Amino acid sequence: MRVPTANWSYPTAIRFGAGRIKELADACRTAGITHPLLVTDAGLAKLPITTRAMTLLTEAGLPAALFADVQSNPVESNVETGIAAFRSGEHDGVIAFGGGSGLDTGKVIAFMARQTRPLWDFEDIGDWWTRADADKIAPVVAAPTTAGTGSEVGRAGVITQETTHTKKVIFHPKMMPRVVICDPELTAGMPPAITAGTGMDALAHCLEAYCAPSYHPMAEGIAVEGMRLIFTNLPKAVANGNDLGARAHMMSAAAMGAAAFQKGLGAIHALSHPVGALYNTHHGTTNGVFMPYVLVFNRQAIEAKINRLTGFLGIAGGFDGFLKAVLDLRKKTGVPHDLGGLGVDGSRVETIVEMAIVDPTAGGNPVPLTKERSRKLFDAAIKGDVAAAAA
Ligand SMILES: NC(=O)c1ccc[n+]([C@@H]2O[C@H](COP(=O)([O-])OP(=O)(O)OC[C@H]3O[C@@H](n4cnc5c(N)ncnc54)[C@H](O)[C@@H]3O)[C@@H](O)[C@H]2O)c1
Ligand SMILES: [Fe+2]
Repeated sequence: MRVPTANWSYPTAIRFGAGRIKELADACRTAGITHPLLVTDAGLAKLPITTRAMTLLTEAGLPAALFADVQSNPVESNVETGIAAFRSGEHDGVIAFGGGSGLDTGKVIAFMARQTRPLWDFEDIGDWWTRADADKIAPVVAAPTTAGTGSEVGRAGVITQETTHTKKVIFHPKMMPRVVICDPELTAGMPPAITAGTGMDALAHCLEAYCAPSYHPMAEGIAVEGMRLIFTNLPKAVANGNDLGARAHMMSAAAMGAAAFQKGLGAIHALSHPVGALYNTHHGTTNGVFMPYVLVFNRQAIEAKINRLTGFLGIAGGFDGFLKAVLDLRKKTGVPHDLGGLGVDGSRVETIVEMAIVDPTAGGNPVPLTKERSRKLFDAAIKGDVAAAAA
């Protein structure tokens, strides 16, 4: 199939198409960046896609430096070291390059580099973002290399607070990248397990946003088409990483998930965040594990909506048909069925449920989360017993 190419200006300027990473230097100039710091994670820094991005910048006469002291599930010290590199290199903007880890860290470095208050003053609570000096936020060009988080079109970064082992969301409207390059070729080298896990993150964003009870029809519309793209294309991308058509649709779906989840998320993310912070599991894969349990748990509240969704997706059998489709998708893409498959046991259940109910995403769940209910959900995911999650 022909891999789509397009320029979009929603929710920010997006240059979409295979091979478009070659526009990186031009994108920087458009964003007003003349001396970028390219931020990525340590694993990606060694891969040819990163070397190529750096070479493209040099060839275009744009002197850039690489900062890659970023771990998966990035922590505060990654941001601090990055800020020091940004300042000492006298950079004027960031290229956020990578999966959610590289993208989030890059965005938060650009946001924080010229602020005077500490990072945690900008957690996504109430109007805390207004504490920032908006004029001092450095511009960002983002280029995703996974198709999952959609952080390239988001106004937040997720950073783990090391002292409390908690994932915190840092938010500011001006954290939205000025220019995004969505080049599906960048995702072609992703191993199947990361392809599957990141794809489940995109699905979790669309599904939880769709099910969240708040009123946001625009986000719902985006979420349903995002889910259609994922059900059709994730198995293809996992089976053949070089299927650029499937990679392109997954890249769109990831951005759509992030555009949709301003409507809300829910229990999948509320449970996945503490598990990821305590066990350093991959975020999207963890979401994929929790997904069927949370669906069953929420059934009473979402059944009518899921019935409507299945009509659009062409899935027979209403809610049960949808649940089966999710279980089949997980099986086909190799996502574990229970938490044991992620190396997570039940020994820290109390800490996890306490963290889950105060996670900022918990409030979007269609059935209010309590400690007892979260424990029930977590226990079902430990046992691998989907039916046991029923509220
Ligand atoms: N900002 C947001 O809105 C948002 C939303 C969801 C998740 N997140 C956060 O994003 C992070 C997860 O991001 P992720 O799922 O994209 O994973 P990731 O960025 O942690 O990357 C996972 C692994 O894949 C590797 N990788 C990335 N691209 C690759 C490629 N093209 N080829 C080969 N290897 C590649 C990385 O080096 C890393 O080892 C978590 O910290 C999560 O909390 C943020
Ligand atoms: Fe997520």
